[in-house]
Amino acid sequence: MRLLTGIQPSGDLHIGNYFGSIKQMIDAQQSSDTFAFIANYHAMSSGNGGKKLAQLTMQTATDFLSLGIDPDKSTFWVQSDSKEVLELYWILSAFTPMGLLERAHSYKDKIAKGISANHSLFSYPVLMAADILLYSPDIVPVGKDQIQHVEIARDIAVKFNNEYGDIFKIPEFKIEENVATVPGTDGQKMSKSYGNTVNIFGEEKKQLKTIKKIITENVAMEEPKEYVNCNVYNMAKLFLDHTQLEDLQNRYVCGGEGHGHFKLYLGEVMWEYFRPYREKREYYINNQNEVRDILNSGAQKARDVTQPMMEKIRTATGISY
Ligand code: ADP
Ligand code: TRP
Repeated sequence: MRLLTGIQPSGDLHIGNYFGSIKQMIDAQQSSDTFAFIANYHAMSSGNGGKKLAQLTMQTATDFLSLGIDPDKSTFWVQSDSKEVLELYWILSAFTPMGLLERAHSYKDKIAKGISANHSLFSYPVLMAADILLYSPDIVPVGKDQIQHVEIARDIAVKFNNEYGDIFKIPEFKIEENVATVPGTDGQKMSKSYGNTVNIFGEEKKQLKTIKKIITENVAMEEPKEYVNCNVYNMAKLFLDHTQLEDLQNRYVCGGEGHGHFKLYLGEVMWEYFRPYREKREYYINNQNEVRDILNSGAQKARDVTQPMMEKIRTATGISY
């Protein structure tokens, strides 16, 4: 079973990213043929570029390797290291009705927010279709906002196959229904765009300062407290096993402790949880050449798939003559 996913290099990773997506990807490596890439061309469509993009690409690669992407088990590369994707993007454009792109929610939402459109924002789903179809994955695990993009890829693949035969595998998307939305410090969905994130990697003091900002209800120290809808509890439970969770529930219902105590506890368990990953990250930060070597061999593995696939496509479409 082949899985494929792309990650935009868009900034510091937070625990919503980790529990909502990264951890699934890391766990999937054990049982699937996993393909994961850093979507640096995609990042350009939201205005990233220059030194900042180069830096974020390396940072995201470093973070993913630190969190457990295993280059021996997965194919892990940077999108722009396999140029075939751009060639396929053009070829697929000829199979993409304008209406299909005009109906894309992500494009319509951005326009509605007053973001002025450029062509890359509009044609983004075609590049994403090329990303997917080049690698013939069975499954593309996505968040809800990306379902339509996979559907567009399927539509394009069907149109192409109708013309040129069974070249593309029609991908399925998979949504992790059992993955809860991780709340941010204000109780809304944790997201960079809401400024309510708790980041995975950062200084301990700064992290604690963020945790202290988590909004909680106002209850006197000695009173019992409600945990089910408590933002601190809902974050802490991501890191705890069954027994630890029961202990924490007891501390809420017994009273005698304030939310400040639970916040300190959350800070401690989170710091411990990410300790091994932080250590690995320290190592990679000091050995960026090793990260580059890993990305280079990942790109070679990716090209071993894309080059023969592209040959087939060139022959079918008459681009090879
Ligand atoms: P952000 O909203 O911070 O910009 P992204 O859109 O880059 O995050 O998300 C990258 C991945 O992390 C997506 O697969 C998304 O589903 C997952 N993710 C982001 N925030 C959360 C959250 N609060 N809870 C669960 N999953 C999340
Ligand atoms: N569009 C995806 C996002 O913003 C990233 C992405 C690019 C992707 N190409 C992909 C995801 C191919 C899955 C498959 O999150």
